[in-house]
Amino acid sequence: MLVDLALTEFKDEADPPKAHAGFALEKRHGISANERTFIDSTFGGSWAAEAGAGWNWFAMADGAPVGFCTFEQRFHRWWWLTTWLARSDVGVFGPLGVHQSVRGIGLGSVLARRTLCSLRSLGFAYAIIPAVGPVEFYERYCGARVVERLTGP
Ligand SMILES: CC(C)(COP(=O)(O)OP(=O)(O)OC[C@H]1O[C@@H](n2cnc3c(N)ncnc32)[C@H](O)[C@@H]1OP(=O)(O)O)[C@@H](O)C(=O)NCCC(=O)NCCS
Repeated sequence: MLVDLALTEFKDEADPPKAHAGFALEKRHGISANERTFIDSTFGGSWAAEAGAGWNWFAMADGAPVGFCTFEQRFHRWWWLTTWLARSDVGVFGPLGVHQSVRGIGLGSVLARRTLCSLRSLGFAYAIIPAVGPVEFYERYCGARVVERLTGP
């Protein structure tokens, strides 16, 4: 899916990251050992490796991560991204995940929109969201649209 960062309103990156529903929002490059454990145990796959290689927005509860959204990780270069990674106007979004115990209270959409805002602040005109699961979520909360459907290598 692709997001046109010029057309969609996102919270200004210059705003201090405000708490959302009692959770602190924090941005940093890479991940700590605790964050790696959280991502591995909650989502598995290559997500911790991707988060470790990029920038992340975290939702934190009492110093512990409960959600995250990675951006601009370019170390893991999936085959279906080759064309998009070559474009200097396209930033890379994801993965995005929120712990099961705190879903449905807005953390996912806040993290996603913060991330899109950060990509816009870096000068990108578009954000590519690769290998999307919840298409409707990205359409509704991020103004994203499907631009490519994968049929396998
Ligand atoms: C997708 C995800 C990040 C949403 O996080 P969240 O904190 O629950 O999101 P929000 O509370 O901001 O938004 C919830 C809304 O999104 C909708 N939503 C959540 N998952 C959805 C899905 N898979 N498909 C469609 N809509 C979805 C909810 O129904 C809810 O809608 P409502 O506002 O009408 O009640 C979370 O469900 C998650 O971590 N899923 C597993 C990992 C995943 O699939 N990540 C995306 C990879 S591309």
